[in-house]
Amino acid sequence: MDLFEYQARDLFAKHDVPVLAGEVIDTPEAAREVTERLGGRAVVKAQVKVGGRGKAGGVKLASDPADAVAKAEAILGMDIKGHTVHKVMLAQTADIVDEYYVSFLLDRTNRTFLAMASVEGGVDIEEVAATKPEALAKVAVDAVDGVTEAKAREIVEAAKFPAEIVDQVVAALQKLWDVFVKEDALLVEVNPLVKTGDGRIVALDGKVSLDANAEFRQPDHAALEDKAAADPLEAAAKAKNLNYVKLDGQVGIIGNGAGLVMSTLDVVAYAGEKHSGVKPANFLDIGGGASAEVMANGLEIILGDPDVRSVFVNVFGGITSCDAVANGIVQALELLKSKGEDVNKPLVVRLDGNNAELGRKILTDAAHPLVQQVDTMDGAADKAAELAAAK
Ligand SMILES: Nc1ncnc2c1ncn2[C@@H]1O[C@H](COP(=O)(O)OP(=O)(O)OP(=O)(O)O)[C@@H](O)[C@H]1O
Ligand SMILES: [Mg+2]
Repeated sequence: MDLFEYQARDLFAKHDVPVLAGEVIDTPEAAREVTERLGGRAVVKAQVKVGGRGKAGGVKLASDPADAVAKAEAILGMDIKGHTVHKVMLAQTADIVDEYYVSFLLDRTNRTFLAMASVEGGVDIEEVAATKPEALAKVAVDAVDGVTEAKAREIVEAAKFPAEIVDQVVAALQKLWDVFVKEDALLVEVNPLVKTGDGRIVALDGKVSLDANAEFRQPDHAALEDKAAADPLEAAAKAKNLNYVKLDGQVGIIGNGAGLVMSTLDVVAYAGEKHSGVKPANFLDIGGGASAEVMANGLEIILGDPDVRSVFVNVFGGITSCDAVANGIVQALELLKSKGEDVNKPLVVRLDGNNAELGRKILTDAAHPLVQQVDTMDGAADKAAELAAAK
């Protein structure tokens, strides 16, 4: 989960990384009071989860409270690389003498963590990295040892930070590593880390990405989720403990088990090539215990996606046998009908594995007009793609 800058700033503050005072608002008028609180001047910063805000006109200096209202008005509602600005952060202004770059990230290729640092930080860091790679120091960080003082000094030395700020940057790096480890982050980036006129080191802009796999031990992180931006169906699926992912095609996919679901996506995409290029619209993994209720919840979500034109239910019976799944499908369709939902999209069902015969018989006997069965995965994928293309 990527965080907004203001959320990253809060996490930095929690772990004693030096930051400037700031407040987030969503109406221009609120900028007046906040700017007064911040001392009469402020930087108005678009809160969008994309880099390069400054260059896009999303970071502006306001010289007084009335100016802050005007700048907030200009920035709120702005579109930055496809992201609409719904909030701005007002931050204290910094007297910047120098801008640096530091980050920690997971280096999957080398199975380690990586620290990157540069004394040429700021809005052009991407260009520095591309054209002057020697100006961006990269130092591996061992997962067990972490960023000790010695490791922090190694990073600072590799990036050639000026002597007079070495101790402050070393301290900041250790605290940023605390953020990385204690918050279970996959990325902690500060750009720019600045030196101010009075010689202090401050994190002016932060980018943090949290590891969703660590949610279970980070109860505070749920509050950081951007509910407004979440896909409503993904949110509904999450609330029901279902693994649902939205894609951009037309065939809804329900399967049991991650492996089967992934290969179902492949066969549908392949079959779709023959049927006007239709593709998977989404997928939902109903997991092991596919009860009627789970199937109903799953179908409700998949059918609720307006992009879906046909649904492919691909189940390999294991612990949950095919007859249980078939009953689940029949009951789910009844349940949805009794809830007044207009189920009108064709379902292609392929059952195989434990009690497949019985499962197929249950569906045949139910003779639901929208359900048709195909016994092979490839055949069913082809049918689902054909139906989606025909709609
Ligand atoms: N509080 C502040 N006081 C003074 N100048 C600031 C402040 N915050 C940001 N700036 C200036 O604006 C520039 C851009 O801001 P910031 O880095 O926050 O946004 P960005 O453009 O999205 O960053 P990135 O290029 O990392 O994506 C900074 O490099 C800095 O020069
Ligand atoms: Mg920045």
